[in-house]
Amino acid sequence: EQIKKGDFDHFMKKEIHEQPDSLTTSMRGRLKDGVVGLGGLKDHMRTIRRSRRIIFIGCGTSYHAALAARPIMEELTDIPVTMEIASDMLDRKALVFKEDTAVFVSQSGETADTLLALDYALENGALCVGVTNTVGSTLARKTHCGVHINAGCEIGVASTKAYTCQIVVMVMIALAIGSDKMSTLAKREAIIAGLIKLPEKVRDVLKLDGEMKALAESLIKEQSLLMFGRGNNYATALEGALKVKEVALMHSEGMLAGEMKHGPLALVDEHLPIIVIATQDDSFSKQQSVIQQLHARKGRLIVMCSKGDVNLVCPDGNSRVIEVPQIVDCLQPIINIVPLQLLAYHLTVLRGYDVDQPRNLAKSVTTQ
Ligand code: G6P
Repeated sequence: EQIKKGDFDHFMKKEIHEQPDSLTTSMRGRLKDGVVGLGGLKDHMRTIRRSRRIIFIGCGTSYHAALAARPIMEELTDIPVTMEIASDMLDRKALVFKEDTAVFVSQSGETADTLLALDYALENGALCVGVTNTVGSTLARKTHCGVHINAGCEIGVASTKAYTCQIVVMVMIALAIGSDKMSTLAKREAIIAGLIKLPEKVRDVLKLDGEMKALAESLIKEQSLLMFGRGNNYATALEGALKVKEVALMHSEGMLAGEMKHGPLALVDEHLPIIVIATQDDSFSKQQSVIQQLHARKGRLIVMCSKGDVNLVCPDGNSRVIEVPQIVDCLQPIINIVPLQLLAYHLTVLRGYDVDQPRNLAKSVTTQ
């Protein structure tokens, strides 16, 4: 039944709209009385807590999911987290030590680059953890331990519900590793309260569908679309841009807003559309100043902000605004990606391209 489109024209649209349910399934049985229980990790928890470093490894959307979870993993565990794109890890023969915990993230569990990086980390003696959607996959079998994301079958080549479920699972992993720390108790409680509200908030943000279609109509002829994010939402900018380029076949780049003044600012004029992610968190005031700098260069802005913040991000009413529900900072990327998934979807349909089978791409890349 899951592999039928039902009332939807495309699998991508169906999978975007399934996210409240897939997130619920991902969390099912894992949150009890304010405590996270992840059966697949419990025998290795002592080793993970003692590791000198956590390395997140993946490709494409799975890499972005890991990047989104990086800040909370560092905050709750006090263990440094480094990021590796699987192919680059192999190209560099990156240093991996016995004291490392290497977390491999892959929807399919069969991506060749990720599996080769796994072999490499196993040879170097790291504890290898898998985060995958596919029970019985090579990744699930070869890692020492892991967590299934339980997002349900994903058919659209552009990953949507697997991305948000990967983030939720990695937030739960961070909660589980950090559960022995009194100093972060209040934050952990806030996250657990956020997880409980998350499916409802995703349902809420899905109501922006019509608004995102209208935005797509205004962008249909553009050559390029930039997205600026930072902190928790750096990954949102990268992933939003990846969706637009892979399905809508439009050039799009996600950029770290802190790097804007070191180059990208030269591109800004009144024509190039720029999405700035400026929802509430510790980076908000920095994003406000990015918005001011872009306005000063007459940038054509589309600002994503928390509900009720329109006057803070756009006092002169001179940009287009996407208002999204607010949630605890580490879960905000799950909310924020949804309008960008919808935007990519509508841009693709309006531009007349194949949504579920984009040109030249495969769901699972099993060759190097
Ligand atoms: C391919 C797909 C992407 C996906 C990436 C990693 O490039 O087109 O959507 O993000 O592989 O796949 P994985 O199964 O390892 O998450």
